[in-house]
Amino acid sequence: MSKNFYVTTPIYYPSDNLHIGHTYCTVAADAVKRFKTLQGYNVLFTTGTDEHGQKIQEKAKEAGKEPLEYIDAIVDDTKALWKTMDIHYDSFVRSTDPQHEKNVQALFQKLYDKGEIYKGEYEGYYCTPCESFWAESQLLEGHLCPDCGRETHLQHEESYFFRLSEYRDKLLQYYEDHPEFIQPAYRKSEMINSFLKDGLDDLSVTRSTFDWGVPVPFDDKHVIYVWIDALSCYLTGAGFGTDDEQFKNFWPADVHLVGKEIMRFHTIIWPAMLMALDLPLPKQIFGHGWILFDDDKMSKSKGNIIYPEPIIDLYGVDALKYFLLREFSFGHDGSFNVQSFMKRLNSDLANDLGNLVSRTVSMIEKYNDGIVPAPHDETAVDKELKDLAVSIWGELEKEMETYQFSTALEAIWTLVRRSNKYVDENEPWVLAKGGEDEKKRLDTVLYNLAESLRIVSILLSFFMNNTAISIAEQITATKEFEAEDATRWGLLEPGKHVGEKKIIFPRLDIEEETKRLWDANHALIEKRKAEKLAKGEAVEEEEEALDLKPEITIDDFDKLDIRVATVDSVEDHPNADRLYVLNLSVGGEKRVICSSIKEYYTKEELTGKQILLLANLKPTKLRGVLSQGMLLAAEDEDGKLSLATTMEQLKSGAQIS
Ligand code: MSP
Repeated sequence: MSKNFYVTTPIYYPSDNLHIGHTYCTVAADAVKRFKTLQGYNVLFTTGTDEHGQKIQEKAKEAGKEPLEYIDAIVDDTKALWKTMDIHYDSFVRSTDPQHEKNVQALFQKLYDKGEIYKGEYEGYYCTPCESFWAESQLLEGHLCPDCGRETHLQHEESYFFRLSEYRDKLLQYYEDHPEFIQPAYRKSEMINSFLKDGLDDLSVTRSTFDWGVPVPFDDKHVIYVWIDALSCYLTGAGFGTDDEQFKNFWPADVHLVGKEIMRFHTIIWPAMLMALDLPLPKQIFGHGWILFDDDKMSKSKGNIIYPEPIIDLYGVDALKYFLLREFSFGHDGSFNVQSFMKRLNSDLANDLGNLVSRTVSMIEKYNDGIVPAPHDETAVDKELKDLAVSIWGELEKEMETYQFSTALEAIWTLVRRSNKYVDENEPWVLAKGGEDEKKRLDTVLYNLAESLRIVSILLSFFMNNTAISIAEQITATKEFEAEDATRWGLLEPGKHVGEKKIIFPRLDIEEETKRLWDANHALIEKRKAEKLAKGEAVEEEEEALDLKPEITIDDFDKLDIRVATVDSVEDHPNADRLYVLNLSVGGEKRVICSSIKEYYTKEELTGKQILLLANLKPTKLRGVLSQGMLLAAEDEDGKLSLATTMEQLKSGAQIS
């Protein structure tokens, strides 16, 4: 009986800016698909695009296009990127596909008929310019819109609701009965504590303020709002509504791989919806972490974005895939850093793997006329290499069970490194100078190296397929990778001529390459901007990235007591050339502070002025004078300094809040 396996990525919002963070999940899902295929499963891998909603409608309008016309071009680019990245998905669901829209309507109707959806009133804070509803908890202070910062007002809108509140206990019970459902396990407590503990509200699932969505089948004033539409793409991808046989084979999904911020939708709304529809639940939701950029969220407007294309152009798609899956532990956040990327390329790919391939092929060329020799008697070191080589597949099966790509790759590298050590231990260059016995030993050593690489090529094939193929070609192994062949030693046929030697990963000058990658990434950003401008489309201006201190809360700010103070008189500091001593009035109180503003202001300029004083700073002696606070000033990049003050004259002692 054939075994089936269904893996998905989320369906992506159409974006002409997919950065390396976006590629993470798809690269992972592709590795899962190839790995499960090697294990003998019949695999279905679904990805796609999430194309409805107000934001897309607005963006299309800004570009002067109909929504679909606008999205089509982006979807083409997305598919092209996946092709460049050698991503082998089986089904690409666009949420605007007519079949998917039909499915969404059928599911909605069923939920309504079963009484799981009812008509009610949605209450939210509405931002008129943005035409968006917000929950009170999402607003900025003063009930301001989190998108544009303008005022919102409380408004009511007719909406259909899904009875999510009734599923709290069922979900908790389900989590308990199926500990493997939410992975990594710590995300389960996050979901329970943050969302389920205090109960669930019913979920508004339609909108009537925009129309770019699937219409409610029996009420075309409403469109079905994002999550029902988006999540059910996983069903459509498995053949729901079109291919019952395929759907029966692949649903429930084995795993949905999703970013941590959408775990909530996948572990609460999705299972509740499926329960309500009497459909089986996916076996697992795996929440991966985010790839940050220098510890910050990647974003175009912050200018800290790194695109996959320049990396692929300069170093190949396998280098990117290797880095993404090796550097970060799937499940945790990680920070992308160009230097660590270069380091991994140099040490793991060029020095370890690249070197092993190139020295093996070179030595076979040099010492055996390019012919893979037949091995002779096995020694203890040979056995050690062999035993290690045939054991790695088992390790990979263990690690891949929990999607631990990084440790799986690390296991492959133990074999790569052991093989390099084997070269050093056996010194083929010395053997080549010896007599008959040494020549026999040399044959065995060269064969074993090529054989080890044959196994490496199979082990690597689901992570870095191009590299695996290149290795197999060079050492004359088959490119029809089979898992079982990785558990057996001695399958490489001697007597064939090695393939043309190729440098799979060259050594890099880290500093030079770091600059080259930055330049290429920057050039791409500029090119995309220019293309948009040429088409008359709006370009999001990059904000200068601010190097901010870590975030604080309002409680942190409340600890500061900043007061308006009047400068009564100014004196030179008796012991420090660059300091003034300022005598201040703060309300009824007199204060003395020392400040290094002598090179910016004369005493006359300061006297009588109102300044801002951090009044609760612990007093400290500066060169013998007790300074009772600190004045506030700002200095710009050009070294221009200005004291901070208030717009209007205020009573001294007034507090800043
Ligand atoms: N459309 C929804 C998903 C609906 S699924 C039924 C969505 N789309 S998205 O385009 O915003 O995100 C797609 C995926 O990319 C998400 O899993 C998200 O976590 C992931 N990533 C976006 N930026 C990322 C990083 N910087 N790092 C890792 N993954 C990130 O959400």
